[in-house]
Amino acid sequence: MLFDHELAWKDPAIYKEIYVNSIAAPEKFWEYHQNTLFPEGNYNASFNCLDRHAKITPHKNAIIWYGDEYCERREISYARLLEMTERIASELIRRGIRKGDSVTICMPMTPESIASMLACCRIGAIHNVVFSGFSANALNERIFRSASKIVLTVTAGSRGGKMIPSLHNVLAAIGDMDVDVLLVDHVDDFPMDDGALSVEHMKYDDPMFTLYTSGSTKEPKRIFHSCGGYQLYSAMTFKYVFDAKPEDIHFCTSDIGWITGHSYITYAPLFLGLTIVIFSGTPMHPDGGRYWQIIENERVSIFYSAPSAIRCLASLGEESVRNYDLSSLKVLGCVGEPMNEAAWKWLFTNVGKEKCPIMDTWWQTETGGIILAPLHNVKYQKPGFASMPFFGVAPGIENEELIIKNKNWPGLSSNFVRDDQIYHTGDKAMVDDDGDFKILGRIDDVVNICGHRLGTSEVESVVNALGEIEESAAIGVPHRIKGQALCIFATTTADLDQDQKESVAKEITTRIRQDIGAIAKPDKIVFIPELPKTRSGKIKRNILKIIGKKQNIDYDAADMQSIINISCIKEIEHAMTHAIKM
Ligand code: WT7
Repeated sequence: MLFDHELAWKDPAIYKEIYVNSIAAPEKFWEYHQNTLFPEGNYNASFNCLDRHAKITPHKNAIIWYGDEYCERREISYARLLEMTERIASELIRRGIRKGDSVTICMPMTPESIASMLACCRIGAIHNVVFSGFSANALNERIFRSASKIVLTVTAGSRGGKMIPSLHNVLAAIGDMDVDVLLVDHVDDFPMDDGALSVEHMKYDDPMFTLYTSGSTKEPKRIFHSCGGYQLYSAMTFKYVFDAKPEDIHFCTSDIGWITGHSYITYAPLFLGLTIVIFSGTPMHPDGGRYWQIIENERVSIFYSAPSAIRCLASLGEESVRNYDLSSLKVLGCVGEPMNEAAWKWLFTNVGKEKCPIMDTWWQTETGGIILAPLHNVKYQKPGFASMPFFGVAPGIENEELIIKNKNWPGLSSNFVRDDQIYHTGDKAMVDDDGDFKILGRIDDVVNICGHRLGTSEVESVVNALGEIEESAAIGVPHRIKGQALCIFATTTADLDQDQKESVAKEITTRIRQDIGAIAKPDKIVFIPELPKTRSGKIKRNILKIIGKKQNIDYDAADMQSIINISCIKEIEHAMTHAIKM
């Protein structure tokens, strides 16, 4: 059996051969990789990510941290990260935390937060990371439902020029719950345990962490991942999809509050011994050059981000990247939402200089790691396609929904039984004649006009291709005759006056007619200053649906907790009264 990932990456025929083998003989395939990746048979993530490297390359940087301002930068070697982790682990033990206990981590993107996750793993505690920008209310739910005995936090953080009072939020969230709080501002305050602290032995199926889904359409759900399957799948997908090697400098712009920040900021890259660049700021503070400056300074080779961030940066124009040296990049990636063609081309041309393949990776909190990605060379790239399955995974389409026909790949969350039932993803997708998959948005977001079912991303892709448009969201609103009609919300790259808005609206309609068909002609186009988004950057189309129907927003609804920019809702309601009727 052939397993050479380097070749798979460069030659579609070799990919195909390995893929077919992986589906035909899954046990053999996964066993081979399990033995290769875990030679010591130890499934403790802290051991795998730290001890193995600290022994051989203690001085190599594990983490390069950038703060909210340009001048804030720190380097943390593998030896130092191990020491930080041991100090926190000792303190957790001193506070009575043991194997199997649940620990909530509410911290900004710092080396301390990564050390905190690894410290939990070290003693076998189950971490439950929550985004540090959450309100006390959203935090309360997640601490309470995870039954955490302790919350790890910092006094305060700073993100996008705004102070985040983490400790204050955590205390407000805890109220009179019986939960301990540990401040991890200075790990050196925690004494080392003089070697008394041992690495907890973890079995393949022992639980490793829990995480709440982002809740873009449904209520956040608590997902469990276990040690062996999760590490095996995240490390393998990282190695194969991004062609990751120990000498790579990896920069993923997600946050540890999401699964991307678990799999592809923390566990997979450290498992494989890379240097990771982490950033606790936002791409636009103090200006739109943050990502590019970091890539230039650190000679980043793998850059993994999200479509919403790319669209935002693309709206600043090509000049905003031109003066940075991005020649170190070898592969780019995006995740979280459908990547529209315009943003894809911008990234491919201006950031990757037409040399770097773009890994449009499709996956979910539940899958632990990447399921679909264009696992082939740059010349076979198809903009807007997440393309093909990772080894061992058998996707298909059933009633327009992306399904996975097998459940025996190791990344799948332990919430699911590994039976022979189909895994339903909840996403609308299509597959072309080459067998390449294209994701068209959440099934719940599909718009049905006169019986024609349109994925939101099909429409948004056309709208976003216009130079004047920064980002858009298409939703269905009830229509007397058509069943549903299309309403488009759009943000623009520059301020437009009423005449300009009308002409852009006309242009949008013409393009949609040409590219999709007259059936998709929008009824209303609404220009707004900002789209409502989840904290992980997903557009909250369900809120737009309520506004589109002119219904009242229930600000107390559980669903509202996941919105980061609540204040834009009033502006959107106002803009709705000036909607351009087509
Ligand atoms: C949902 C999962 C997986 C890490 C971040 C999100 C959407 C994800 C893509 C992509 C189109 C995508 C899907 C999926 N999604 N990647 N490449 N193209 N849509 O994790 O919060 O669990 O969300 O994100 O709708 O179901 P999550």
